[in-house]
Amino acid sequence: MASHNGWRDLTFEGKTAVVTGAARGIGRAVAYRLAGLGARTVIWDLDGKHAEKTTAELSDLLDEQGRKPHIEWSVVDVTDPDAVQKSMDKVGEGTGIDVLVNNAGTTSVQKVEAMSLDVWERTLRVNLTATFYCCRAAIPHLRRRPGAAIVNISSSSALVGGGGGAHYAASKAGVDGLTRHLARELAPDVRVNSVQPRTIDTELFQARYAHAPLEQDKLLSQIPLARIGQPEDIADAVAFLASDWAAYITGQLILIDGGRTYQ
Ligand SMILES: NC(=O)c1ccc[n+]([C@@H]2O[C@H](COP(=O)([O-])OP(=O)(O)OC[C@H]3O[C@@H](n4cnc5c(N)ncnc54)[C@H](O)[C@@H]3O)[C@@H](O)[C@H]2O)c1
Repeated sequence: MASHNGWRDLTFEGKTAVVTGAARGIGRAVAYRLAGLGARTVIWDLDGKHAEKTTAELSDLLDEQGRKPHIEWSVVDVTDPDAVQKSMDKVGEGTGIDVLVNNAGTTSVQKVEAMSLDVWERTLRVNLTATFYCCRAAIPHLRRRPGAAIVNISSSSALVGGGGGAHYAASKAGVDGLTRHLARELAPDVRVNSVQPRTIDTELFQARYAHAPLEQDKLLSQIPLARIGQPEDIADAVAFLASDWAAYITGQLILIDGGRTYQ
């Protein structure tokens, strides 16, 4: 039987991580956590202005804590396979890539009967096809690094629907299928897991509930842990799954919902 290495620090020193859609929200918190734990962290986003601002803010925050952050950013539209391939090769050249976090996502509130093919396809492209593009481009770089990991940001909607509509739920169920399959295909070289957030306090959430205090109260009453989730709650789980602390975990879907979904 292989022996366990004993105590290890949760550290990403000497590792390189790519986080997509990290200019804001959950991706930003993930980038902050990984950079704080020592990773060279590469932020990709469509929104260059926000990505640059986030990179400066996170670097300052970590500097103040006496860490030595190494955060980079670039504008990458993850739905553009050529841009993804070129950017991934640029990041992985020389160092390889240790961690890929597929976080970029989109949704809209739509009923199926009124949904255009365009909306359906766009949502599938951003949430699912782009995850495939990023995984495909990263695999050769991940294979070069021992203990490499992919973490996909799925959603509770993959399990119970919601999140705006069928387009979103179907795209996230697809992400989880991709996770399950890739975990088998890439083992034992690269671990692949999903996290499934529910009700996390990002700009998206604020936009929906800021002017609906009664709805917010109702929501809180449905969450056993009695608070709205924070982006950091997701970042902690992502850091764990991406780290050597999760060295024997692959192909798993971890629901992070304060207990709301299955109470
Ligand atoms: N907030 C929640 O409650 C919640 C719940 C379940 C799942 N999620 C998932 O978590 C992830 C992050 O959500 P969030 O709430 O932080 O969203 P957000 O809208 O705050 O951030 C998403 C980021 O992705 C970027 N992005 C969108 N399309 C892109 C593209 N084509 N290429 C590159 N970047 C792109 C956006 O510019 C933005 O910075 C998403 O995958 C979302 O589906 C969120």
